[in-house]
Amino acid sequence: MREYLIVAMEAAQEAGKIIKERIGTITDNEITQKSISDYVTEVDVLSEKTIIIRIKNHFPEHQIMAEESSNDYKKAEYLWIIDPLDGTTNFIHGFPVFAISIALMKKGEIVLGVVYDPLKNELFYAEQGSGAFLNGKRIHVSSIKEPAFSLIATGFPFRNKQFIPSYIKIFQSLLYSVSDLRRAGAAAIDLAYVACGRVDGFFEFALSPWDIAAGTVLIKEAGGVVSDFEGGQTYLKTGHIVAGNPVIHPFLIKKINEVLKN
Ligand code: IPD
Ligand code: CA
Ligand code: CA
Repeated sequence: MREYLIVAMEAAQEAGKIIKERIGTITDNEITQKSISDYVTEVDVLSEKTIIIRIKNHFPEHQIMAEESSNDYKKAEYLWIIDPLDGTTNFIHGFPVFAISIALMKKGEIVLGVVYDPLKNELFYAEQGSGAFLNGKRIHVSSIKEPAFSLIATGFPFRNKQFIPSYIKIFQSLLYSVSDLRRAGAAAIDLAYVACGRVDGFFEFALSPWDIAAGTVLIKEAGGVVSDFEGGQTYLKTGHIVAGNPVIHPFLIKKINEVLKN
């Protein structure tokens, strides 16, 4: 597994260099709108190509699922799940929160994850069974046990507008019961921050596999819990995800379900 991790880390860092050089320089003709509030820049595409070339060079038999590619991958023992630039809206606006997210799925299970923030030069990585790390140092989820002291990260359902009414109710309920909430604009960063204890929990509706695959293994290896809104393991399919330390995670599930079941 080590060689897979090394290639993933090198690919993320190479892509990070490309992204970092271009922040604040993106012109309108380098941006394409994919759908409502969903943009792709030429930097996303270049980052993705760079990552894929490196992975394919090392592991030509592996399959790839990547956000900006056509994704006609076949059933394979190894599937790489790639978000070449998580936080594209931030990137376009020069808001300095974005990352590269690379995960490896083996026989349907995520076995490795890398999230790289090129601006802070923070490399988060984890291999199943070997712990989670930030720039070589072991990381753990927070130990906060009291929801009233907890800081919760989240993402707005700005594309999937059918979830807005439920989301607002959950948001309101949490505002009454936690210390504060954060919306940074990059789900991979949110999850990495749960893993290293900078936030105590995270929830979002309808994310894509490439937003969350790497982050989920980081959190599990850092001692945290990841699930869908029912506490099950369907989040890669549904995109509905809740994560947190072992105390804040069940608290978030309870709060979310108080709204969704009413
Ligand atoms: C987005 C970010 C954002 C989340 C969106 C994602 P993208 O990814 O992770 O935080 O709220 O739903 O799609 O489009 O910037 O790669
Ligand atoms: Ca993303
Ligand atoms: Ca992206």
